[in-house]
Amino acid sequence: MKIVSLDLGERSYPILIQPDILWKAAIHLKGHAPAGHAVLISDATVSGLYADQLREALIAAELQVDLFTVPDGEDSKSWTVMGELLSRCIEAGLKRDGLIIALGGGVIGDLAGFVAATYLRGVRFVQVPTSLLAQVDSSVGGKVGINHALGKNLIGNFYQPRLVLIDPLTLRTLDKREMWAGMGEVIKYGLIWSSDFFSQIEENLVPLAELDDMEAVAEMLAFCCRAKADVVERDEKEGGLRRILNFGHTLGHALEAVTGYHYFKHGEAVVHGMDWAAWVSWQEGFIPEASYRRIQALLNKFPIPGLPDPLSATDLTGKIKIDKKQTGRGLHLVLLEEIGKTRIIQVHDIEPWIAGWLESRN
Ligand SMILES: NC(=O)c1ccc[n+]([C@@H]2O[C@H](COP(=O)([O-])OP(=O)(O)OC[C@H]3O[C@@H](n4cnc5c(N)ncnc54)[C@H](O)[C@@H]3O)[C@@H](O)[C@H]2O)c1
Ligand SMILES: [Zn+2]
Repeated sequence: MKIVSLDLGERSYPILIQPDILWKAAIHLKGHAPAGHAVLISDATVSGLYADQLREALIAAELQVDLFTVPDGEDSKSWTVMGELLSRCIEAGLKRDGLIIALGGGVIGDLAGFVAATYLRGVRFVQVPTSLLAQVDSSVGGKVGINHALGKNLIGNFYQPRLVLIDPLTLRTLDKREMWAGMGEVIKYGLIWSSDFFSQIEENLVPLAELDDMEAVAEMLAFCCRAKADVVERDEKEGGLRRILNFGHTLGHALEAVTGYHYFKHGEAVVHGMDWAAWVSWQEGFIPEASYRRIQALLNKFPIPGLPDPLSATDLTGKIKIDKKQTGRGLHLVLLEEIGKTRIIQVHDIEPWIAGWLESRN
């Protein structure tokens, strides 16, 4: 088993990574439910695949388990679904020493985590992430929340889980497109945190994405969780360093927005966004052209949708301006100092860089 510890004083927790850990989850979960009562929250797909297995194991460990299943997809991160889940927790009689378990991708982690953060002013919460994105990113670090009609992730909190259980075997049932989208976030850690890791992924991209070797996949997941934990330990609430996790996301979010959130998966848009940020890093003279070409060559291997045509630099810039990460002093842009190291700059006029990059791709 690989254990990554996230050290946040009293709110510290371990991330346990092991193929098959879902089968043994009850051993790890029981101690977090002193009242003997757990609420399991999942979405329709993941529930159909894994919830029975987990519920039976918990019941065998003498826990009372209520399973609440919500529809798949981003729309479940809503006030309506949140309200329904809170009602069901009350009806089920979940007490302050009860446990909420999020079993699913990032949607379920964010939603169930926010339910746990608000129900009775906060109950214990465990993440069992099943998508690659959730296993390397959203389940670690304690950001929980839902969407608002006026924007994504506008309502939420920082609320750390007590434990994260990662079973890489669950990735076998994940849609290939979701898997590749998650690999985009994996590469992000190489670019912002470790050139060694970047090289490893560069050499093994396809075997990792195809899950050829589960031990290698588990190592990859552990590296990503360690990197995210390192960042969160130093900056839990995104006052500074945590911003580097937004590498590739400035343009990525804008690409998602201008295409109506249906053309790209999030991680796919981030792959294009990382290409752009690396290109700007080269244009600004922070990294040499050879480094940009190396990054570009790896990102080009992703079997993802290309940029839609036409794409307007002005539209993209407009979306970036309304992105919540813009502060009064201009926009913080995460660039690369070298592969494995970031450099944050503040910019006021981003449009020429977007136009230049779009042109470079024609
Ligand atoms: N809290 C954070 O720090 C953070 C960070 C990044 C993203 N997010 C959030 O994460 C969400 C995206 O997460 P996601 O990409 O996991 O999406 P998701 O939760 O919608 O999962 C994608 C799809 O894969 C299915 N799925 C998940 N695991 C599966 C498995 N093992 N086998 C088969 N199908 C499986 C789901 O049912 C769903 O249909 C967004 O809402 C985003 O805002 C949060
Ligand atoms: Zn992301």
